[in-house]
Amino acid sequence: MSLLEVKNLTISFGGLRAVDDFNIEIKKGQLYGLIGPNGAGKTTVFNLLTGVYKPDEGIISLDGHNITGLKTIEINKAGIARTFQNIRLFKELSVLDNVKVGLHNHYHYSTIEGILRLPKYYKVEKEMDKRAMELLKVFELDGEADYLASNLPYGKQRKLEIARALATEPKLLLLDEPAAGMNPNETGELMDTIRFVRDNFDMTILLIEHDMKLVSGICEELTVLNFGRILTQGETGSVLNNPQVITAYLGE
Ligand SMILES: Nc1ncnc2c1ncn2[C@@H]1O[C@H](COP(=O)(O)OP(=O)(O)OP(=O)(O)O)[C@@H](O)[C@H]1O
Ligand SMILES: [Mg+2]
Repeated sequence: MSLLEVKNLTISFGGLRAVDDFNIEIKKGQLYGLIGPNGAGKTTVFNLLTGVYKPDEGIISLDGHNITGLKTIEINKAGIARTFQNIRLFKELSVLDNVKVGLHNHYHYSTIEGILRLPKYYKVEKEMDKRAMELLKVFELDGEADYLASNLPYGKQRKLEIARALATEPKLLLLDEPAAGMNPNETGELMDTIRFVRDNFDMTILLIEHDMKLVSGICEELTVLNFGRILTQGETGSVLNNPQVITAYLGE
């Protein structure tokens, strides 16, 4: 069964149809790419999927549930987590605490237990520390757990964003240009990390990316957007050899 099913998703800003009749089906466990020239509507699709914008038309189903029109927080609880094109970490918090923010979806203590530091507070905090460190290890960030997020180099901040998104235990992870600003070595490591996350966290991943090496290296299927509309979609090899896709990119 498809994990994500989107039908006829459309949104306009003023006179601009930023996303026009967008359809996609992503199966559980898939590594799926959303590509297209600048301004094609890719980030807007993520904003629609995560409830930042409400669509003018269309239906979004996650794991058989209609999540169209839900608020961002409800969509996160339903199982979609994302990273942002412009990194949005809590820069004044430690690396560890950034991940713990994500964990609050699944670890709870009451306000009163928190304020009075009751035993439940310490128990839950300890469990969260343990889980957050496990996640940081995956991204080789455990050695920097106490650093301020803002003090991490750029490539590591991008990894921390993914760790924080994973902490919410999503079914679907959306990555908006995870390799942006990375050098080729960092991009190579990121590809390994994304594959690891898919395989070891049983994750389904939809990623937006301009780096064609990364796209062709890890995505099994692609959807190409151009001027808000789907140009083509299907298996990665055939999509990247499609002359229309090549023209869309050269015309950038
Ligand atoms: N809130 C908004 N108000 C008005 N226009 C918007 C808004 N959000 C996006 N747009 C417009 O929608 C179009 C698609 O933008 P979007 O950010 O989705 O492109 P993108 O494919 O992610 O591009 P890039 O590769 O440069 O990140 C652009 O023309 C953009 O200016
Ligand atoms: Mg974008």
